[in-house]
Amino acid sequence: MRKSELSNLPAHVAIIMDGNGRWARRRAMPRFMGHRQGVAALKKAVRYASNQGIETLTVYAFSTENWQRPQEEVDFLLDLMYKTFVQEIEELIEEQVRIILIGDRTSLSHELLEIWTQAEERTANNTGLTLNVAFNYGGRQELVAATKNLAEQVARGELAPEDINEENINTALYTWRSPDPDLIIRTGGELRLSNFLLWQAAYSEIYVTDILWPDFKERDFSEALQAYAHRERRFGQVPVKE
Ligand code: FPP
Repeated sequence: MRKSELSNLPAHVAIIMDGNGRWARRRAMPRFMGHRQGVAALKKAVRYASNQGIETLTVYAFSTENWQRPQEEVDFLLDLMYKTFVQEIEELIEEQVRIILIGDRTSLSHELLEIWTQAEERTANNTGLTLNVAFNYGGRQELVAATKNLAEQVARGELAPEDINEENINTALYTWRSPDPDLIIRTGGELRLSNFLLWQAAYSEIYVTDILWPDFKERDFSEALQAYAHRERRFGQVPVKE
């Protein structure tokens, strides 16, 4: 893995890949063409993050709300996800990428779950970039699942209510293996988190660009990293020089 020449590199970058539909509409194409192009942008982003030496990349691929899209689009996205994994797995292994699915696994099809489990198992010992793919993911739903998990531990007598703390909540989240994101990038210009990493984003720097996801290139990723490098992160404290 090549280390970045950029200073102050975030260890964990999360991306809200928005704007596929608008990208397609502007070209008078059907929305699915935007998603297909979105996969190409994702491949570039993964390679770039890996080459820069970023440790963790989390991408928002399908939210718990996305099921409400027209059935045709939902089916296309599920199929795209499946095919992308089949097509890309060997290269991801070669690039030492470790894949982790974050999201609610209980309502996914057997097929998708199987390919996912395989991808996780086959990349588990890779030592490069950790790629968290948020699929059937919702931040509130994640917190509900974590709360249930802790409540069950309490009910079994394994955890005392007064011992519930940030650490064991963290451990009960889908993202338990990853540090909190340092930087969240959102493409497509909207200024919101859209139920993404609600707990983990407490002190994340947020960078929004109007560029639509299929147009997001290495240069744009680099600009986001440079903007991050100039931010002063205070974590609720006073500035160092004051
Ligand atoms: C948001 O654009 C994008 C999505 C809902 C899907 C993102 C998925 C990909 C880029 C493919 C990922 C594939 C894998 C294998 C992880 P939008 O449709 O909301 O765009 P709009 O806001 O312009 O309508």
